[in-house]
Amino acid sequence: MSSNSNNRHEVIERNVGLLAICIVFAISLGALVEITPLIFQKQTTEPVENLKPYTALQLEGRDIYIREGCNVCHSQMIRPFRSETERYGHYSVAGESVWEHPFLWGSKRTGPDLARVGGRYSDEWHRVHLMDPRELVPESNMPGFPWLAENMLDGKYTKQKMALFRNQFGVPYTDEQIENAPKEIEGKSEIDALIAYLQSLGHAMK
Ligand code: HEC
Repeated sequence: MSSNSNNRHEVIERNVGLLAICIVFAISLGALVEITPLIFQKQTTEPVENLKPYTALQLEGRDIYIREGCNVCHSQMIRPFRSETERYGHYSVAGESVWEHPFLWGSKRTGPDLARVGGRYSDEWHRVHLMDPRELVPESNMPGFPWLAENMLDGKYTKQKMALFRNQFGVPYTDEQIENAPKEIEGKSEIDALIAYLQSLGHAMK
């Protein structure tokens, strides 16, 4: 240890209160430098070119996805590594998620990432898989969700949800789309909605 009284660093090292204040200051400055530019960068605040708002049916499907906890086992975030892009496709970019509230990126992967699962399988494949995954993937430990085929959507809040996304989060729904929402989900079951949602995932960057 240096006994040099000119060693100013020692002043901080020997004073826990001062050290704590300096640490908080350094971390805050670092955070500002990292986060502030992201708030203003177009790349992170503007939707990618082909992004389309969820249809009424897809939007209801998304809520079922959240209700059933699919996001607890599945991420929707492809990292920019070769091992990921070769398996799942183009890595995820911020512009795909600007209308996601709440976002469902996740980090826990008991099952595969679903960010670009849309179009990978047929609707029928999803229907069978959601009812009982082991019919198609014998070693699967994903639970079945057979009740989704029995529950019909009531659509009580669909218009309100779409209006909320438009007014609060700037999703460009037209009046017509909102007006037609109840018609679009009439006679549809929860599994129909969930499949419509899954098939829409990743459409903007294929
Ligand atoms: C307990 C964890 C768990 C939960 C909860 C779960 N899954 Fe899975 N999921 C898995 C596993 C493991 C696999 C891989 C085996 C298989 O295909 O069944 C998988 C596979 C999938 C696949 C096929 C992906 C691909 O690229 O092959 C889809 C689609 C899927 N799950 C959708 C869902 C949906 C929708 C829900 C919610 C209703 C859900 N999962 C809930 C674990 C889970």
